[in-house]
Amino acid sequence: MLNELERLETAAREELGSAGSAAELETWRVRYLGKKSVLTGALRSLAALPAEERKTLGARANAVKMDLQTRYAEKQESLSLDSIDQSLGRAALDVTLPGRPALYGRLHPITQVFHEICAVFSHMGFQVIEGPEVERDYYNFEALNIPQDHPARDMFATLWIDTAQSRDSRLLRTHTSPMQVRLMEKQKPPLRFIVPGRTYRYEATDATHDWMFHQVEGLAVDSDITLRDLKETLFEFCRGIFGRDTGVRFRCDYFPFVEPGGEVSIECVQCKGAGCRLCKGSGWLEILGCGMVYPNVLSGCGIDPTVYSGFAFGMGVERITILRHGVDDIRHFYSGDFRFLRQF
Ligand code: DAH
Repeated sequence: MLNELERLETAAREELGSAGSAAELETWRVRYLGKKSVLTGALRSLAALPAEERKTLGARANAVKMDLQTRYAEKQESLSLDSIDQSLGRAALDVTLPGRPALYGRLHPITQVFHEICAVFSHMGFQVIEGPEVERDYYNFEALNIPQDHPARDMFATLWIDTAQSRDSRLLRTHTSPMQVRLMEKQKPPLRFIVPGRTYRYEATDATHDWMFHQVEGLAVDSDITLRDLKETLFEFCRGIFGRDTGVRFRCDYFPFVEPGGEVSIECVQCKGAGCRLCKGSGWLEILGCGMVYPNVLSGCGIDPTVYSGFAFGMGVERITILRHGVDDIRHFYSGDFRFLRQF
């Protein structure tokens, strides 16, 4: 019996040494320490032995059992450490690989220019307000001194929502000017507002035209507003957006809702006035329309034109962005092309 125990112990140690996985270790445990193992059998059979023998054999068998149990526990721990090492090894981080740069979100170039324009006018005391993109004929045309069949309607290729023609017909606003009327109807002077927003035209697209674009409208009404206020405000705006040294020009133009009407141009950003393809040889780039609010428009909104006067202006934001950044095609703005957008 003693010999048998010795043999068992040697075999158990050897086998334990070669167990390389949790499954092998479990097989080993069942074989050497399980309920049906030789060792457990030997310990159980001790009861049948004479007292003397039982004592020595019992002590030996218990010693073997405790030794194997300790070794088992150690082996178990080392195997689990191995498996942690292995899985760590598999997921190891290769610190020599070049990093992947994070992609940052950014504001769309049109939004950025909107913010700049709003900032310049805010400094001059203008409030910023938005208006509806789906408008009524009345606000987009009639109240702006462009009744049905007025030839000036041809200036605005319109996307209609309702086909029947009446002052209530809905359309996609062709400019932000209808907000002049909405503002003057609601509030009494003094008024000083700018209106950034989307506008729509029924237009074939090309490098300089899109069917959807953005405008900023401006309106100031008070008891002593003159053309001089209009000019100084817009010159200040041009200097704020295009730089102090940029030349600015004011000329007459026609819009039905202003009298006199004007247009403001800046010195060509590319040739500095010498004449090039961008400015079509003129040296100047037109950037906005403006004028003194037509008396009819004021009275139509319940404002007495003998007491109050006002100026208004409207500009295309894409055009200003194109001129500021030298963009060659308006369609880039809404192409969703990151190679373009990333540059701003
Ligand atoms: N609404 C005009 C357009 O889209 C621009 C404009 C011209 C606005 C003169 C004005 C203005 O407020 O006074 O072409």
